[in-house]
Amino acid sequence: MPKIIIFDTTLRDGEQSPGASLTPTEKLQIALGLEKMRVDVIEAGFPIAASSEFKAVNEIAKKVKNSIVCALARAKKEDIKIAIEAIKPAKKKRIHLFLASSDIHLKYKLKITRREALKQIKEMITFAKKAVNDIEFSPEDATRSEPLFLFKVIEKAIASGAKTINIPDTVGYALPEKFGELIAEIKKNVSNIKKATISVHCHNDLGLATANSLAGIKNGASQVECTINGLGERAGNAALEEIVMALKVRRDYFQAETGIVTREIAKISKLVSHLTGIPVQPNKAIVGANAFCHEAGIHQHGILNKRETYEIMRAEDVGLRSQLVLGKHSGKHGFEDKLKKIGIRLDKKQLERAFQKFKKLADKKKNISDEELLKLL
Ligand code: KIV
Ligand code: ZN
Repeated sequence: MPKIIIFDTTLRDGEQSPGASLTPTEKLQIALGLEKMRVDVIEAGFPIAASSEFKAVNEIAKKVKNSIVCALARAKKEDIKIAIEAIKPAKKKRIHLFLASSDIHLKYKLKITRREALKQIKEMITFAKKAVNDIEFSPEDATRSEPLFLFKVIEKAIASGAKTINIPDTVGYALPEKFGELIAEIKKNVSNIKKATISVHCHNDLGLATANSLAGIKNGASQVECTINGLGERAGNAALEEIVMALKVRRDYFQAETGIVTREIAKISKLVSHLTGIPVQPNKAIVGANAFCHEAGIHQHGILNKRETYEIMRAEDVGLRSQLVLGKHSGKHGFEDKLKKIGIRLDKKQLERAFQKFKKLADKKKNISDEELLKLL
């Protein structure tokens, strides 16, 4: 099975979420968790941004041994020099350079022409390549770039030495079918594309980051950039846990796999939420508190008979436990199962009475805890 490279950018794009700032010690703690989960590439930060950022990337570069440690740099000498310095101690290192390729960014942000952009890409990749062999290049705002110019940019980046070409949907504008087509077009139209790995990096402004990333993979991308809990600029990035589990659960469709130890997912999700102070919404796919909880009677009955009736993956595979929660939608099967679990056996008549009392109480309350249940009994 072809392997999809998991490039985690929780510590870079994720940390750019408003209010998500982390100390170097906290970043290292997360990086070690990502390494334990066998993330292939850890984007540790943007060293030019702050001295604490340089320190964090440098510490991570010293301690992480198995994952590639990557630092972000604009296509500018001063950024590249600092990024090279920050990742120097790493056993496996990568520099990720970016320069926008859309006309709106070239004209209003960078104030350079297309021709100047191509020149800068060539010069800066050549410069970085002298110090670090593994260079990734991102044409920022790729999905709003004129395709023919985008192909030229990619061709130039590869010819200058980039080994990975990352296609960012910087502003979350893409739609799955269109994004998939773009990746297929890049494969078809960029003459030297076989010399590079195609990567995708999708933002979630329209809630499509995971869908777009998967469409990219289906059309030939073999690296995906993502973050724990979908953290990231504005509405966030594609969530690592969603992509990894989609590839695992729907292996039949994608015919690809990752090297991620999925049992570690819940632990790292909790760590990131705790350290950033950004909670995970209860109905968040894979890691939300309700992702493997069942309250409705019909569902509880199904689960008790055969788990697969209402679960497409095992909670244990992501480090969680499936739970039946008692509430007003619960039925007798779930109620009886709960009593068994807390060690209470009732005869048929008692069970019926207890169930009626429970239903009355559940109609007034959101959830019934074990303590409340015991009191009621
Ligand atoms: O979203 C984006 O374009 C980025 C680049 C730096 C890759 O984060
Ligand atoms: Zn981004």
